[in-house]
Amino acid sequence: MPPDYKKLYEIVCDLYANSEHFYYGQWDETFYTLRVFETCKELIQKSRLKVNKDVILTAAIFHDIGKTKLDTEEKIQEEWDDHPQYGAEITREILRDLKFDNEFIEEVVYLVKHHGDRPNKVEMLRTPELKILQDADLLADMGIASFIRPFLYSGKNKRKTINNVNYIKTTKSSNGTISKENLYRLNLKASRRIAKKLIKEANKLNKKIFKMTQSELLEG
Ligand SMILES: [Fe+2]
Repeated sequence: MPPDYKKLYEIVCDLYANSEHFYYGQWDETFYTLRVFETCKELIQKSRLKVNKDVILTAAIFHDIGKTKLDTEEKIQEEWDDHPQYGAEITREILRDLKFDNEFIEEVVYLVKHHGDRPNKVEMLRTPELKILQDADLLADMGIASFIRPFLYSGKNKRKTINNVNYIKTTKSSNGTISKENLYRLNLKASRRIAKKLIKEANKLNKKIFKMTQSELLEG
């Protein structure tokens, strides 16, 4: 029997809901966690790798839970890179309380701990499970989804909608956290295929949104 994913998701959502920064706006982990979970499912299917699905999907739910330990503006800036390590500790504690098997727990904890150790950042041997989680984490923020975060940031930074559209258009990362130039950050061929499709989708939408901000009222 697979773990009760809904129950695990509710547990992490409660933790995020008790935080100040991670349940709304640009860092809303109740949304991003869900997207990483669903993207892992897609990648498990499309990559056709032989993997432990339960381990990957449980790790997807917990992967960013360490951010709840960074719940101040300063810590978010200074300790951001430590969230996988913090997350590993929190995940182990919760899964132990829920009486999961020790071997299963350590496999999940390993993925949470290393989810940020991507190719070209850290040299290491990656298990197929880790490759999927790392790639899903990037893919989840691409395509149409890549428009959500910049617009939420625009609210936070009090940027005008029209300026924000121009900002998205002119930055190379118009497709979110990754662009065609840095597809090397993905582990799997299947991921790169999905990424290219998402980038195309985002570029198309980008053009449409940009057109909406063109007006004679702004000329001259
Ligand atoms: Fe993360």
